[in-house]
Amino acid sequence: MQKNIRFITADEAVKVVKSGDHVHFSSVACAPSVLIDALCRRGDAGEIRDVKIHHLHTEGPAPYTDKKYEGVFFHQAFFVGENVRKNVQDGYADYIPVFLSETQKLYRCGALPCDVAMIQVSLPDKHGFVSMGPSVDATLAAIECAKYVIAVVNRNVPRAWGDAMIPLSKIDMFVEDNTPLPTTLFSEPDEIETAIGRNCASLIEDGATLQMGIGAIPNAVLAQLGNHKNLGIHTEMFADGVLPLVEKGVVNGAEKKINKGKMVSTFLMGSQECYDFIDDNPMVLMKDVGYTNDPYVIAKNPKVTAINSAIQVDLTGQVCADSIGTKFYSGVGGQIDFVYGASMSEGGKAIIAMPSVTKKGISKISPILHSGAGVVTTRNHIHWFVTEYGAVNLYGKSLQERAKLLISIAHPDHREALDKAAFERFGPHFHFIG
Ligand code: COA
Repeated sequence: MQKNIRFITADEAVKVVKSGDHVHFSSVACAPSVLIDALCRRGDAGEIRDVKIHHLHTEGPAPYTDKKYEGVFFHQAFFVGENVRKNVQDGYADYIPVFLSETQKLYRCGALPCDVAMIQVSLPDKHGFVSMGPSVDATLAAIECAKYVIAVVNRNVPRAWGDAMIPLSKIDMFVEDNTPLPTTLFSEPDEIETAIGRNCASLIEDGATLQMGIGAIPNAVLAQLGNHKNLGIHTEMFADGVLPLVEKGVVNGAEKKINKGKMVSTFLMGSQECYDFIDDNPMVLMKDVGYTNDPYVIAKNPKVTAINSAIQVDLTGQVCADSIGTKFYSGVGGQIDFVYGASMSEGGKAIIAMPSVTKKGISKISPILHSGAGVVTTRNHIHWFVTEYGAVNLYGKSLQERAKLLISIAHPDHREALDKAAFERFGPHFHFIG
């Protein structure tokens, strides 16, 4: 039954935050910007200090990472998105390395306290439920563990189903704001991305269950799948690229073993069309990240094909995806969750796909990783690797065989130098590798 909601102002609501508290924000387009602004006003007024802020990727400004809030807010994100990247790189904001699957566990096992969860939700339905729309991820865990939950009720938040639906009784304070949600628009794939998309699509079988990571590649791959059949989606995120495939009936989840016929995700970013798509759509289940990204859950579907991107790979197959040398660019996200889950799935394929060179022409396939780069997908986890020049499977291959295969899909301008580096590393035997 619908309750009468008593709205208070954002400034009143954020008064529950005390110095030293840990505060969680819901993610992507549901970042609660009116509460963020009100919290910053308290910071400006000198009313709070040492407030720790946690969230995944958020859209919109992140003013609490600004240099002027040193000592007031201590930002520790679970993923480094564009709005916090510079301040993380400059040291004014920080990052907690954690598998996406375990971001919820940080709260549930008590590794991180959650004093206040600030979320943004849809209008309530006649049963007294609101939806968290595009952000379930670790936010559900934050709500469960928080001492106080403040919700911005916004008529523009889509009423996504699954774990996104929570009863009003879980919320302590309500603030009204009907600002349209920020949208993310993706550019059309360029020639190189299209070639990568084609190479990935050639590995995707009919009946596969897909996961697509973040970055430019996912939409390029999806654009190539128009003639596939019975694809399913079990992913951590999706965006607009999947919509035409649903409309065409290519994505129907018919061959999934779990959540048959449903698209499963934990957050999403996209255009208004994407938000409209998940609104009251029984085909879409927005689930807790502890479910979507659990490798053992992922592996229950057959032919799981996980496609993620990378910043750099070395000649042995070590993949860096979260930093450029020591500079953090993003985070580990769900890459390893899905690489592992896909490789355990019957007929599954774990694919890392990236352009062979950066926009400046530097080879992304390197003899060794940049100094300070961390390994996201280890050389033991790696299976398929794709560039615009082809697809190679490194699984079960020796170090020297891997180097040969990776060089075969490097940019032609860099193959000779890579070959020389491999020869210096492995010795003359390298030239006898077939
Ligand atoms: N050396 C130097 N710079 C490099 C580089 C390299 N080897 N590879 C990439 N870069 C730079 C690019 O030039 C670009 O710089 P810019 O922002 O100044 O243009 C930047 O790094 C990002 O590269 P780009 O190829 O545009 O990235 P993308 O948007 O396609 O995303 C990842 C690729 C790897 C960053 C992205 O997939 C990611 O964040 N992954 C995280 C782990 C993951 O896969 N998680 C699962 C989904 S959450």
